[in-house]
Amino acid sequence: MKVIKVKNYQQLSEIASVMVSDLLVLKPDATLGLATGSTPIGLYQHLINKYQKHKISFKNVKTYNLDEYCDLPKNHQESYYTFMHKNLFDHVDINEENIHIPSSEGDDLEKRCEEYNSMLNRATIDLQVLGIGSNGHIGFNEPNTPFDQETFIVKLTEKTRIDNQRFFNSLDEVPHYAITMGIKNIMNAKQILLLASGKSKAEAIKTLVTGEITEKFPASILKKHPNVIVIIDEEAASLI
Ligand code: GLP
Repeated sequence: MKVIKVKNYQQLSEIASVMVSDLLVLKPDATLGLATGSTPIGLYQHLINKYQKHKISFKNVKTYNLDEYCDLPKNHQESYYTFMHKNLFDHVDINEENIHIPSSEGDDLEKRCEEYNSMLNRATIDLQVLGIGSNGHIGFNEPNTPFDQETFIVKLTEKTRIDNQRFFNSLDEVPHYAITMGIKNIMNAKQILLLASGKSKAEAIKTLVTGEITEKFPASILKKHPNVIVIIDEEAASLI
């Protein structure tokens, strides 16, 4: 696991975007694993900018998102489907059929998981972008998720619901469940790029960098992956 410390969120976003765009230049039909949350928004803005300047194209790029809330219609303003379209897909030349986001619609959620998991098993993700939850979650793999877990329905911890409350009008509106790639799916990516910014991530980054590998802290498994780059800003690095 290689840790790159940068000054601030702007630099973090810029460096991350260079890594993603270098991949797209080398491999225009690359498969990206994408994340939501506030952290990758700057990266996505830089990618949009590079697309507008004709430096990269998403025409042949395939994407797989990490997760989606349950009990929110796809077009809800806080669904991850809406997030990805608003923050990236609507502004670049990606083909809608190349976009994959777990679906939590319909009654048979187990079937949705199996379908997404089979798609992931047929794909090879060249680069997986990750954020990190303050409790060490990646995707929505909460503490004590088995490391060999594949796509599943997760009950969100109160900590995660409270962290994500800022996107909703009240805590009551934050879904209790989500569908997420499992840790095993994430670890199958050829390369992983984890981004963390701000003081609220300092404790998690300290645990990630200095702690042991344990299911109590899901992101710790990344230390076993051969190709992980962690980009953190000064505030996120403040406890290491
Ligand atoms: C959410 C997402 C994660 C994300 C994390 C951190 O719960 N499921 O994929 O990494 O929270 O979000 P943020 O970047 O807003 O801090």
